[in-house]
Amino acid sequence: MTDEYRWWQSGTIYQIYPRSFQDSDGDGVGDLNGIVSRLDHLVSLGITAIWISPIYPSPMADFGYDVSDYANIDPVFGSLADFDALIAAAHARGLRVILDYVPNHSSDQHPWFIESRSSRSSAKRNWYVWRDPSADGGPPNNWISEFGGSAWSFDRASGQYYYHAYLPQQPDLNWRNPQVAAAMLDALRFWFERGVDGFRVDAIHHLFEDEDLQDNPPNPEWLPTMSPARSLIRTRTMDQPEVHDAIIAMRRVADSFPGDRVMIGEAYLPITRLMAYYGVDLGGFQLPFNFHLMSTAWNAAAVATLVETYEAALPAGGWPNWVLGNHDRSRVASRLGPAQARIAAMLLLTLRGTPTLYQGDEIGMTDAPIPPERVRDPWEKRVPGLGLGRDPVRTPMQWGEGAQAGFSSAEPWLPLPPNFEPTTVASQLRQPTSMLQLYRALLKLRRSEPALSIGGYRAVSADENVLVFERFYQERKLAIALNFDDHAKQLSVPGGTGRVILSSHLDERPSLEDPVELRPSEGVIIDLN
Ligand code: GLC
Ligand code: MG
Repeated sequence: MTDEYRWWQSGTIYQIYPRSFQDSDGDGVGDLNGIVSRLDHLVSLGITAIWISPIYPSPMADFGYDVSDYANIDPVFGSLADFDALIAAAHARGLRVILDYVPNHSSDQHPWFIESRSSRSSAKRNWYVWRDPSADGGPPNNWISEFGGSAWSFDRASGQYYYHAYLPQQPDLNWRNPQVAAAMLDALRFWFERGVDGFRVDAIHHLFEDEDLQDNPPNPEWLPTMSPARSLIRTRTMDQPEVHDAIIAMRRVADSFPGDRVMIGEAYLPITRLMAYYGVDLGGFQLPFNFHLMSTAWNAAAVATLVETYEAALPAGGWPNWVLGNHDRSRVASRLGPAQARIAAMLLLTLRGTPTLYQGDEIGMTDAPIPPERVRDPWEKRVPGLGLGRDPVRTPMQWGEGAQAGFSSAEPWLPLPPNFEPTTVASQLRQPTSMLQLYRALLKLRRSEPALSIGGYRAVSADENVLVFERFYQERKLAIALNFDDHAKQLSVPGGTGRVILSSHLDERPSLEDPVELRPSEGVIIDLN
């Protein structure tokens, strides 16, 4: 019945931030064996695939997003043998495994960069982006690093600057050099051969910059309370046309392996620009991440407009996807509060398109306070005090009781928040109406109802801050009604009469209802058949 759909269409992806998921060896940092020991949590949650943030050898200047070897495992996470065991354990449970691929930049400790910087005549000089100083000896142009400061660092020995979209420890690879592209595509093959089911491709919109190095124009809307990188409009450093050929090459590698391998792109772009990342004839990413739920105003009308705009913009045959949180953004339960976070969960898991969950959101974890002496994120260190730091969303997964919440036997690399006890997997399993139970119920329903996983979508209304839409598959028809308000609302059931099969409050409802009483911040799924 549903065979024509791929696992990455009908399934749900769960992001693991490996430093903070589960520590198995008592060093306060999560690792691969830790992930294996927690796979059963993910199976009972009901997800389909795990995406693991980078686990490659890294000096950890950006906690793994600075890769010094694309074909190995950092010892803090384990070994290649541990990785093979993780793949086997996941596949044995029917879980797919997606890795993070960081093509835009390597670590400055990668042998390629060490060789590249060794002299102007190095055979690998052209593997990175080197330029002469400007006339006054300063950087070649005005480009700013995403993490603050000039995007150019001077190499005294060779007298040139190199470009880095992020940290000076993350020099940008030169994808205009075919040798770089070939070496980076080999990295994909290495992991596909080991059985990975796909990649999430990091910072893809940064892969190319303007070759003529023209300045980025100033952004008139920038305020000093915003990230310094936003003081320029990044027309010359982001979303350049050449990126699409590189994506096609990555996708071809994925398609050259048997099974349904998936390529997911990380690009923070307006909807119209994002659509190009599906590629001509869908030869690009199967899933260009859609982050717009994280930035759209949280009310029924704005969310309805977003869904409509996004659905209308999709290329023919393009599959939608939705994201509520990740390791870079404030947690959904902090952005929206605990009551509306439940509405957000119901929205994410009933919209048409592949949902991606971020670890800890299934128990409603909030941004954790980080005392100044515990700050680890280089962004917070370079641009302090603006709330840009990402440590608060990267604190250890809260599994259960005890000093370290079951995460580790040692002091974790980032602190647990005070009073975390109600927000653990163990306590929420005992509590019948907890956030975890809601996520489990929603995922169970999504797995059993093709209308939710692969069915069609129809907007119904977005009045009085209540969003109503339908999902349908063959004869099956469901309505979803979400109350974005903290007041009760009355809802007339589309088509006259229906049966609430799931309330976000997780309690029993009368068997047939019309109108349906929506309590404050309540969402319901209504069986219309
Ligand atoms: C992506 C990652 C982020 C990282 C950056 C540089 O945006 O999600 O965590 O710092 O790229 O690799
Ligand atoms: Mg460890």
